[in-house]
Amino acid sequence: MCGIVGYIGKRDVAPLLLEGLQRLEYRGYDSAGVVITSPKATGLKMVKAKGRVRDLEARVPKRFTGTTGIAHTRWATHGAPSDENAHPHLDADNKVAVVHNGIIDNASELRAKLIADGVEFLSETDTEVLTHLIARSDAEKLEDRVREALRHIEGTYGIAVLHADFNDRIVVARNGSPVVLGIGEKEMFVASDVAALVSHTRQVVTLDDGEMATIKADDYRTYTTEGSRTTASPTTVEWEAESYDMGGHDTYMHKEIFEQADAVDRVLRGRIDDRFSTVHLGGLNLDAHDARKVRRVKILGCGTSYHAGMIGAQMIEELARIPADAEPASEFRYRNAVVDPDTLYVAVSQSGETYDVLAAVQELKRKGARVFGIVNVVGSAIAREADAGVYVHAGPEVCVVSTKCFTNTTVAFALLALHLGRIRDLSVSDGKRIIAGLRQLPAQIEQMLEREDEIKKLAQEFAEAKSMLFIGRVRGYPVAREASLKLKEVSYIHAEAYPASELKHGPLALIEPALPTVAIVPDDDLLEKNRAALEEIKARSGKILAVAHQEQEKADHTIVVPKNENELDPILMGIPLQLLAYHTALALGRDIDKPRNLAKSVTVE
Ligand code: AGP
Repeated sequence: MCGIVGYIGKRDVAPLLLEGLQRLEYRGYDSAGVVITSPKATGLKMVKAKGRVRDLEARVPKRFTGTTGIAHTRWATHGAPSDENAHPHLDADNKVAVVHNGIIDNASELRAKLIADGVEFLSETDTEVLTHLIARSDAEKLEDRVREALRHIEGTYGIAVLHADFNDRIVVARNGSPVVLGIGEKEMFVASDVAALVSHTRQVVTLDDGEMATIKADDYRTYTTEGSRTTASPTTVEWEAESYDMGGHDTYMHKEIFEQADAVDRVLRGRIDDRFSTVHLGGLNLDAHDARKVRRVKILGCGTSYHAGMIGAQMIEELARIPADAEPASEFRYRNAVVDPDTLYVAVSQSGETYDVLAAVQELKRKGARVFGIVNVVGSAIAREADAGVYVHAGPEVCVVSTKCFTNTTVAFALLALHLGRIRDLSVSDGKRIIAGLRQLPAQIEQMLEREDEIKKLAQEFAEAKSMLFIGRVRGYPVAREASLKLKEVSYIHAEAYPASELKHGPLALIEPALPTVAIVPDDDLLEKNRAALEEIKARSGKILAVAHQEQEKADHTIVVPKNENELDPILMGIPLQLLAYHTALALGRDIDKPRNLAKSVTVE
């Protein structure tokens, strides 16, 4: 989705901004633009282009110099992708430039009023109304002009504003869309995502909703949209610039799949308590007394995070014996759910920015619920909004298709389940058993990734399929769902996931040689039931790929996965299927890191 980057200092700004935009490319966008100035300049210079950042770069003239600027990658919401609709947006006098992430809900109403007042619009965007509102203010300070304009706005925004008459500063504001300041040595950065600035500084200030900031080359000030000063001290970003590089892999997806053993090691680090066979989750803020009062756990997330939540719900039921379920946050927020004070709500999000999840959290909090976050990005909106939570420490995930964050989120759920379980009825020996299982995970992941060549060969066959069925039962079902999502989003092959138990209630009608089935067959108490499902498929000449702990006679091929504890098996069983999705997409020549129509962080409705 949209991205913002800005700089003020002494360096030549255009290359810095273009580099920042490149680092935001992973979020998904359809056009880009940049506007610059400098203390001695009398006006603003702007270039915009539909397409990629490289298309913008190609348009930047040789003498495009300056030391202050803001830039943007746009994901179209109001108006098609085009040069005109790309940000920044300028007013009629070319004095005010605005870049904006988010959506202005009352844009059409404001646009109509401005047009009636004689304002001419150059784009179809919602953002342009903000530019004209700022330009029409006659307040003395730029900050007041922005504040006045924002008073008319309903909706979400992260904005950066540049003004030709106030070219010693950039004014930014946040309401529902992230804005981060990067503090350098006599230079300041602003971005919607630390990815854009972490190669220059790791000292950041994250604005809260309702907060604004003025950044100058050697100073920054934060205040509320009402004008009261706020104190925001810089924190250090733990992710380094190199974590955003491809590190010798051809794609981020491949790199991130292969980082999983290290990532799992990180989510476990410092959290296991062998003395009491439990775990420490420092950010949880839930003492034993409160934990015993939890009567239900409700997990909310979208897409892959929702699937991780489904696995988490089963772990919590199995280990802590607390009724738990997961629901897409995108559905939950619209159904006026009954909010129960004894339920622990858990919001799951890799990015911590997904609007549907954030809106669900806000609705829950408004109704007095206690919400935990399981999030990857430190300081993100959901992490800040939640009452407490657990970071999954997967490191930055750049590929739109989530892999390592999924795995780490399921491990974080295992930790939460163990923690709740050991406060309730999970025995010391079961606690020990789960801890031993958790400790085995990194090595088992490595072992599995060594089978890449075998999976690559299989992928050549699957690339010919028009459609695929993924089945699993109980622990295997969320694994099947996630594997099916992975395949469809990166390879564009239609895939459907079904509980294996439901086959005979409908999907068996689809089985024929041209529809391959991927079956998740863990060695657990349901093994024989799963084998029966394979028989049923084979009897109808269906082709089967099994992901199992031992060779499956009825399958055409079995990917044998190392066995862990039954409760933890789902964490591992999805990993070979990430590789299957990857190699199938590669065989089909897909744009693996940026699948069509998708964005990394879905920050709008
Ligand atoms: C993952 O592969 C998807 N691209 C998508 O389903 C994603 O998981 C979903 O949009 C939620 O994102 P989040 O975890 O950042 O909230």
